[in-house]
Amino acid sequence: MQTILIIDNGSQYTQLIARKIREANVYCEIHPYNKIPQITSEVKGVVISGSPYSVTDKDAPQIELDKYRGKLPVLGICYGAQYMVHCDKGVVEKSKIREYGRANLSFIDKECVLMQGVRENSQVWMSHGDTILELPQDFEVICSTQSVKNAGYKIKGEDTFALQFHPEVYHSEDGFILLKNFVEKICNCDCSWTPKNFVASTIERLKQQLGNDKVVLGLSGGVDSSVVAMLLHKAIGSNLHCVFVNNGLLRKNEFTSVLESYKDMGLNVKGVDASEEFYSVLKGVTDPEKKRKAIGAKFIDVFDNESNKIKDVKWLAQGTIYPDVIESSSTKGPSQTIKSHHNVGGLPSYMKLKIVEPLRSLFKDEVRRVGKELGLKSELLGRHPFPGPGLAIRILGEVTPEKVGILQEVDSIFIENLRKYNLYDKVWQAGAVLLPIQSVGVMGDERTYERVVALRAVESVDGMTADWSHLPYDFLANVSNEIINKVKGVNRVCYDISSKPPATIEWE
Ligand code: XMP
Repeated sequence: MQTILIIDNGSQYTQLIARKIREANVYCEIHPYNKIPQITSEVKGVVISGSPYSVTDKDAPQIELDKYRGKLPVLGICYGAQYMVHCDKGVVEKSKIREYGRANLSFIDKECVLMQGVRENSQVWMSHGDTILELPQDFEVICSTQSVKNAGYKIKGEDTFALQFHPEVYHSEDGFILLKNFVEKICNCDCSWTPKNFVASTIERLKQQLGNDKVVLGLSGGVDSSVVAMLLHKAIGSNLHCVFVNNGLLRKNEFTSVLESYKDMGLNVKGVDASEEFYSVLKGVTDPEKKRKAIGAKFIDVFDNESNKIKDVKWLAQGTIYPDVIESSSTKGPSQTIKSHHNVGGLPSYMKLKIVEPLRSLFKDEVRRVGKELGLKSELLGRHPFPGPGLAIRILGEVTPEKVGILQEVDSIFIENLRKYNLYDKVWQAGAVLLPIQSVGVMGDERTYERVVALRAVESVDGMTADWSHLPYDFLANVSNEIINKVKGVNRVCYDISSKPPATIEWE
């Protein structure tokens, strides 16, 4: 498969480069500068990313340019641009003027293939501490801004280009055109990496890889595991054994409705109601991390038990996606765990199953597009993220079946109203939280002393940062009324107006 190699020097924007290149229907992979795999004939071009380092820093990323320059098309971005100049004895120095934020291209070399279709005066996004003062011999300027003469260059006699600004960020108006020119016109990629082709080639590959073997997959009701299930189902049919565990911490009616829709999709799925087992390990547990660990361990227990019932099963399928892969092999190593998120689905070594991960190379939005291609229902594809430990981390303090029941009712009123008012798709994630306090209220002539719930709805792109959703007051008023009128035991509703950071999306 035609591939663009992205050499990651630790820039915060590296993933964006990959996403933009894929938007041009070209497959690409990010690899840390110090862990570059063997270059195969599938690699059609190389992008050298930005970096938090300066080229003059002692521990700045070092790239083996000889391997690429003159042999493959190369595009250096920011640090990548400065690094190539530095290595050829040009002059790169700390910039004296501000080179951060928006700028406009005041000169464009119209003959240069990379720049075709880029408009004069087009806005670009600068973000660099170093600047290229002098280009080495054979390097030619292809674009400039008012304050940065060498905003972009090419190297004579090679397919090597570089830009000091960031074409991958949204604020670079014609940035996508630049990246598309690079992959299409310079690397000559055929731009055929579409969801349709991904589905066809993945099914073929899975058929080859799995033959007549049996595979077990834990379904969660979420997009990733559902897409994995459909791909495997198309490749190996009934040799795929799906297990959907009810941990008693799902949303109201979710277990039965999701199980039904899996069956409608033709999947060979077994629903296992282990609610009581989960409640029993959660008894007396109040610490959020201990809850997560207890739920994770119980899940493995139940799942292992079910897998053992499938005779001769050889593979475990997982819904790992590309951000998880990049995260665990990034230039700085896995980032610090703030919450033990990926706690469900870990594999005990004694299970001795081989792992198959058909979505390893996809970003979340690509998983959705593949799901659509596979005919997954839009309700399933558009579902809000929901944490593996479920309502347990939305019940502050000890989890009991009674509290789960109350929270399910509250949550269901909130979510149903979001749908009714056409707000569901505008919100990235929403849910309700049961607080460990009681509050005084009045109902008729009587004083009440009942529970308090908080509603949480956020807007986000990837869950890493989030802002609280500015839901309309009328909507909130209706939801609050309905909750207090209908859910016995709740007499107060609050709305969470904290952003992440410093708060997190979940309360625990
Ligand atoms: P936070 O609370 O860290 O959440 O802002 C970010 C995203 O991660 C989800 N989340 C979890 N998902 N297991 C999961 O599978 C967990 O333990 C967990 N904790 C938080 C959260 O719902 C949000 O989408």
